[in-house]
Amino acid sequence: DGDAYKYYSDGEWRKSSSGKTVSIVNPTTRKTQYKVQACTQEEVNKVMELAKSAQKTWAKTPLWKRAELLHEAAAILKEHKAPIAECLIKEIAKPAKDSVTEVVRSGDLISYTAEEGVRILGEGKFLVSDSFPGNERTKYCLTSKIPLGVVLAIPPFNYPVNLAVSKIGPALIAGNSLVLKPPTQGAVSCLHMVHCFHLAGFPKGLISCVTGKGSEIGDFLTMHPGVNCISFTGGDTGISISKKAGMIPLQMELGGKDACIVLEDADLDLVAANIIKGGFSYSGQRCTAIKVVLVMESVADALVEKVKARVAKLRVGPPEDDCDITPVVTESSANFIEGLVMDAKEKGATFCQQYKREGNLIWPLLLDNVRPDMRIAWEEPFGPILPVIRINSVEEGIHHCNASNFGLQGCVFTKDINKAVLISDAMETGTVQINSAPARGPDHFPFQGLKDIQVNKKFLKMITNLLLNYFIFCFRPG
Ligand code: G3H
Repeated sequence: DGDAYKYYSDGEWRKSSSGKTVSIVNPTTRKTQYKVQACTQEEVNKVMELAKSAQKTWAKTPLWKRAELLHEAAAILKEHKAPIAECLIKEIAKPAKDSVTEVVRSGDLISYTAEEGVRILGEGKFLVSDSFPGNERTKYCLTSKIPLGVVLAIPPFNYPVNLAVSKIGPALIAGNSLVLKPPTQGAVSCLHMVHCFHLAGFPKGLISCVTGKGSEIGDFLTMHPGVNCISFTGGDTGISISKKAGMIPLQMELGGKDACIVLEDADLDLVAANIIKGGFSYSGQRCTAIKVVLVMESVADALVEKVKARVAKLRVGPPEDDCDITPVVTESSANFIEGLVMDAKEKGATFCQQYKREGNLIWPLLLDNVRPDMRIAWEEPFGPILPVIRINSVEEGIHHCNASNFGLQGCVFTKDINKAVLISDAMETGTVQINSAPARGPDHFPFQGLKDIQVNKKFLKMITNLLLNYFIFCFRPG
């Protein structure tokens, strides 16, 4: 198919020998927007082989040179923000302004990673033997950081560019090579982003981007003996990857059910504004979205009214018009969301708006009086549907938050900073925001979670750890 985007291997854009393509459906029009190559297992073998040999030379390339190339890629990416944002609009229906922000933020993250990498990688540890009982000062130990090798990066559809570069940047500065498998929705945005690295002049084979069907190359990639580390962001697929992958480091971020705990003394206008931003931006398709509001009964009526008034002002429509609420990514996602809504309806939740759906476009919906027997109390809709659970004590809120399988982020609203800190400490989540909606950014903040979202806790801090092994060598003085 002459119209299909080519994949990237050995520094060149190539057509797959499979002769097959994968279609990318525009969530708004529900028509095929783009096609990408359906790569074969042989083509995956080839990129792995190239990645292995390119990495050896790359690891010896001076650190300042690696950083220079990353800065160059960042600048090129930011120069090309308009066409890449256009792809995000068409592939994942991200609102126009947010699409541009994603690209710019990604360029900034690449530059930041390059700068941090130069500092962190320049550090080593020096240990002496007599600090351990029973030893004289007869041995010294020097540690330095070494790359892992070939890193397989698998970003999700909702931030295909940003969550790809948050894997690519740290991997490359640390001296690793990189094989990227983009999500189907978002693949073309990723290919454009990779082109920026191509234009920056990275060595051939160091970065590859293979597209295709998960059923054909998914397991083959994640179980490939040439892979030394997998960095994955997405859904339950991460759990199956972690079971199938070999003895390699895994970095996983698999979703969230971020709770928003609202106390009686909270500034309800501030809470309502943050619920709208946290719960409904990009139509709730963020791992860090507020996915359940736990509000004290005494202020629940007032809060629900304020949120309802703001929901009524949200603009619903196509991403090209920069609407607040845009179509969700696929029809199956819309069907899943609808299933949660119907379950809540059967079990007696209060609908603050009428449920409305046209194709993949779902109107924002606040569900009040949600109870723990409803699926929406626990499951992640990844859509513009927000449940409100009324609580009679702070402990009840903390209990609900901690009973979840997810522990990514959460937030607490109160004017009492002492209570805020105690509640934050009690919430079993990677991050708690006080009087603010959950969010990953700024992108240099540590982003980590607990429970189902984080399979391997050894790899908590992506940027600071920079996807490295520690290499320790010891010697005896004299
Ligand atoms: O979906 C997960 C993203 O990392 C969330 O990023 O909180 O900055 O929107 P964000």
